[in-house]
Order: sequence, then structure tokens, then C-alpha cells
Amino acid sequence: MSFTPSSDILGFGRYHVGQAACFGCSRNRLAGTLPQSPSGVFRPCLVIESQYVGNLRKVFMSSTPVALITGSSRGIGRGIALELASLGYGVIVNYVQNEAAARETALAAEKLGTKVLVCQADVSDCDSRSRLVGQSLDFFGRLDVLVNNAGVPVADRVDLMDATEASWDRILNTNLKGPYFLSQLVAREMIRLKGSGIIEKGKIINVSSVSAYATSLNRGEYCVAKAGMSMMTKLFAVRLAEEGIQVFEIRPGVIESDMTAPVRAKYDRLIAKGLSPIRRWGMPSDVAKSVAAIVQDYLPFSTGEVINVDGGFHIRQL
Ligand SMILES: NC(=O)c1ccc[n+]([C@@H]2O[C@H](COP(=O)([O-])OP(=O)(O)OC[C@H]3O[C@@H](n4cnc5c(N)ncnc54)[C@H](OP(=O)(O)O)[C@@H]3O)[C@@H](O)[C@H]2O)c1
Repeated sequence: MSFTPSSDILGFGRYHVGQAACFGCSRNRLAGTLPQSPSGVFRPCLVIESQYVGNLRKVFMSSTPVALITGSSRGIGRGIALELASLGYGVIVNYVQNEAAARETALAAEKLGTKVLVCQADVSDCDSRSRLVGQSLDFFGRLDVLVNNAGVPVADRVDLMDATEASWDRILNTNLKGPYFLSQLVAREMIRLKGSGIIEKGKIINVSSVSAYATSLNRGEYCVAKAGMSMMTKLFAVRLAEEGIQVFEIRPGVIESDMTAPVRAKYDRLIAKGLSPIRRWGMPSDVAKSVAAIVQDYLPFSTGEVINVDGGFHIRQL
């Protein structure tokens, strides 16, 4: 019999219950199939007596806070994952198709001394979301922070009058329905974990956009999804306050990432002309620092709050 939840926390590969020795893993080790961290580092196994499993599970599971960051293989999500890793969080690096990028993030996070689970899951898909949360809990045994960061831009920037239902479904499913129901799923687990004393409090952070209020006629569906995310933040903030779970919206402006790479020249020009009072591109680390402020409890009496990370873009001027 063996169990894997949070086995990474103390650096062991797997725990074995009630066995005198770990023969299975000796064989696996010879065959080279022992469970490994994303960096490929070998971890030995720990053999424990069955009567101590409950206590050990509790100790291992309660030692390190854990954050799930959707879409953390690249861009802003990667910046957030590394920031949280540097704060000592165990992190779940989620991606949808770019496994190589996810492994890069994981390796960088591990170098900061934290434990990492890499998990492929499409946030727009119900079964994927359940698997993502299930695997996260199996691995770490707890979940303290959810960052709903994964998002996609429109495939083609076309005028509002020519936008298609297919594009609407793709954008709304990934950028709004996914985070909405993932929040519901994770919040249920946080309430359960809090009830059993495994976590003290929970935090859900939604990465929206200035598009939540600024119109772009060539990507209306993206704007609608981000505006929906603002309302979603308020709804969950009110519902979860009594559960000790705070909910925040971070609204990035123009941030350097693969998403903005195709429109780099356009934004270079606009920024130079004063699009935002702070005349520079935002970086993923700018967004990550606002996440750090939230998870470190610098906003203890706030919920449903919007944090603009946009160089001052949101300020109206005369
Ligand atoms: N960049 C900006 O200027 C800006 C401004 C405001 C708001 N935002 C928002 O910030 C978030 C991150 O943007 P970014 O610029 O970092 O984008 P990015 O560089 O294109 O990265 C997108 C990330 O989301 C993941 N992803 C996409 N669809 C997914 C799905 N269905 N399930 C799970 N993961 C998925 C990608 O995974 P793969 O690597 O596997 O593809 C990748 O990790 C988005 O919500 C975006 O709307 C960005």
C-alpha cells in the first residue's frame, strides 16, 4: 500500500505503509521509472508504519501553503508562479498545450527551493478542471490560493459587426466559464480544508484586464469575458467572505507576453504617446507583485477589491 499526497513536501519520492523495505521502488529505481520531480531529481522513498499514517499526513499536509496558478507555463502566469515560489509556496503549474514551457516554469520554481506539480488541464473543460483540482490535492493535500490567470486572446481581431459565435464561445468558455466554475470547485475544497483545520484561510485571485471596462471594437467578446470576470469577483467575494476566503480582481494593462507580441509595434507607439501615465510596458513581475501583496495578507480587510496594474491607464484625464 502506498500514498502519494504531498510526498514531495519533505523530498521523498513516495511513502510506503506497513512494509519492512521498499522493494517496489528498488525495482523501479533500477528500471529508471521512480517518481521524479520535473527537474528529474531522484527522490528516495520513506517506509512508515500504518498506525502513523494519519499523523504524518497531517504534518506533511500542513507544512507549506500551496497555490494553483492556471496558465502558468508562460507570461503573466509564469511570473506569478515564480513570485509565489520565492515566497515559499508549493505551486501547481498548469498549462493547456505547451508542456515544454510548463516544465521550464517548474524548473525555475524548483530552483527557488519549492515543490512543484505540473498539470495539463484545459480550464474551459469541466472534466479537466476536476482532474486539475483532484491532482493538486492528491499531490499537496491542501490548496490555499487559486489564481485564475489562464486566458486566450481572440484569434482574429475583426470588427464587432463581423465577430463570430465560434469566437465568442471560445473566449467566453476559457476566459469566463472556466474561472467561474474552477472558483466554485476550489472554494468548496477550501471550505472543506478549512473545516478540517488543514488551511487557515483561502484566497482567489482573478486576472482580468483593462478590457473589463475599456472598449475594443475588434475584440468585443474578450471585453465581455473580462467584464464578466469583474462581476464574478464581486459575487464570489460576497459569498465566500463568511467562509474566510478573500476574492480579488487584478486588472493588468499592457503587459509584455506572448499574448501581446503580435501587437508589439502598435503598443510601442501608443505607450510612447502616453497611453498610460507611466510610459513603459508592464512586465509579468509587475502583476506578480500585486499577487504577492494579497497572499502575504497586506489587504486583510478587503475583498472584491480591484487592483489596477496598468501604469495608471485607468485614470481619466482632462
Ligand atoms: N498580456 C497582457 O497585456 C494582458 C493584459 C491584461 C490581461 N491579461 C490577461 O492575463 C492572463 C495571462 O495573459 P498572458 O499575457 O500571460 O498570456 P500568454 O502569454 O498567452 O499565456 C497564456 C497562458 O494561459 C494558458 N492557457 C490558455 N488557454 C488555456 C486553457 N484553456 N486552459 C489552461 N491554460 C490555458 C497558456 O498555456 P499554454 O502555454 O499551454 O498555451 C499560457 O500558460 C490572461 O487571462 C490575459 O487575458 C493579459
